[in-house]
Amino acid sequence: MSQQPIKFAYWVPNVSGGLVVSKIEQRTSWTIDYNRKLAQIAEQSGFEYALTQIRFTAGYGAEFQHESVAFSHALLAATEKLKVIAAILPGPWNPVLAAKQLATIDQLTAGRVAVNIVSGWFKGEFTAIGEHWLEHDERYRRSEEFIRALKGIWTTDNFTFKGDFYRFHDYNLKPKPIQQPHPEIFQGGSSRAARDMAARVSDWYFTNGNTVEGIKAQVDDIRAKAALNGHSVKVGVNAFIIARDTEEEARAVLAEIIDKADPEAVNAFGDAAKQAGKASPEGEGNWAKSTFQDLVQYNDGFKTNLIGTPQQIAERIVELKSVGVDLVLSAFLHFQEEVAYFGERVLPLVRELEAARQEQGASVSA
Ligand SMILES: Cc1cc2nc3c(=O)[nH]c(=O)nc-3n(C[C@H](O)[C@H](O)[C@H](O)COP(=O)(O)O)c2cc1C
Repeated sequence: MSQQPIKFAYWVPNVSGGLVVSKIEQRTSWTIDYNRKLAQIAEQSGFEYALTQIRFTAGYGAEFQHESVAFSHALLAATEKLKVIAAILPGPWNPVLAAKQLATIDQLTAGRVAVNIVSGWFKGEFTAIGEHWLEHDERYRRSEEFIRALKGIWTTDNFTFKGDFYRFHDYNLKPKPIQQPHPEIFQGGSSRAARDMAARVSDWYFTNGNTVEGIKAQVDDIRAKAALNGHSVKVGVNAFIIARDTEEEARAVLAEIIDKADPEAVNAFGDAAKQAGKASPEGEGNWAKSTFQDLVQYNDGFKTNLIGTPQQIAERIVELKSVGVDLVLSAFLHFQEEVAYFGERVLPLVRELEAARQEQGASVSA
């Protein structure tokens, strides 16, 4: 098990409707005022990262959407140590614009920005904005070039690159980012093509919620491939966290979320998401096996089962860590209150369990 404490990120609700496709009451807002306060609570509560979402058009409950890079900068300006991961979609963005924007934000925020390269699953969105829609594995081929170009621009003078999607000739970005060697590069996506890309170029691999066994299979696969490439990659797993004083209360909240799910929106989302893993040559990846209940949370976050008392949740988090997970990406029903509760009640237990496991490990090897 890693000696490093497991890290925590939260989904920034910069898109309306919260993180579940349900009509249950959600005291979560997509406004900047709400989000500034949430970011401050999160950094005081022990969260290291916040992840923004990129969405250009309404989809399945998300009627309003603030743009991710601008929003990330606003959150960085309102905080002191939180790192904010800006989501970027190749297609609408090209690598030079992304590299320039993020280098400037890195300079303005003493090196606290990171990026999540998302490859796209929402064909209707691409059609709406007049962007060419690439087939599944082509999207990842483009994303990989995008990441190689980003890294090249950020780290190399007179950058020259001849790819199928992007070309550069003697390009000098000045100033370069503060962070060395460059801001961290996350990726969203878990199909074969996504994993292979992570094993070659990404610093972090983000995957949808899953069981511990399902996560372990991905971690083992990706780490073995990365080792062959002389690369190392960290893993972040999505979870919708429902922590309550009793397990009954937590389960009742989950039941109410599902009961009040908006079937039309959930089914339409399920249909659109077939363009993700299911459309890959092997038919695997995000949402390929999701049930109706899974889809009520956008990224299969119930499957990770961080639902119960603080003690139960802390134990499951340490179990995820034991199979190689480096970060839990969390979403909540009422973000501000629940991020604070997590920081007060769950995180200290995680740290205690980590310390106990390390001591056990030390005494076994002594
Ligand atoms: C943690 C995480 C965050 C994501 N964020 C976004 C996003 O902000 N916008 C978006 O269009 N897609 C987002 N995605 C979707 C992925 O980029 C990708 O298109 C999807 O997971 C399909 O993966 P697959 O085809 O490899 O299975 C995200 C995925 C994950 C796992």
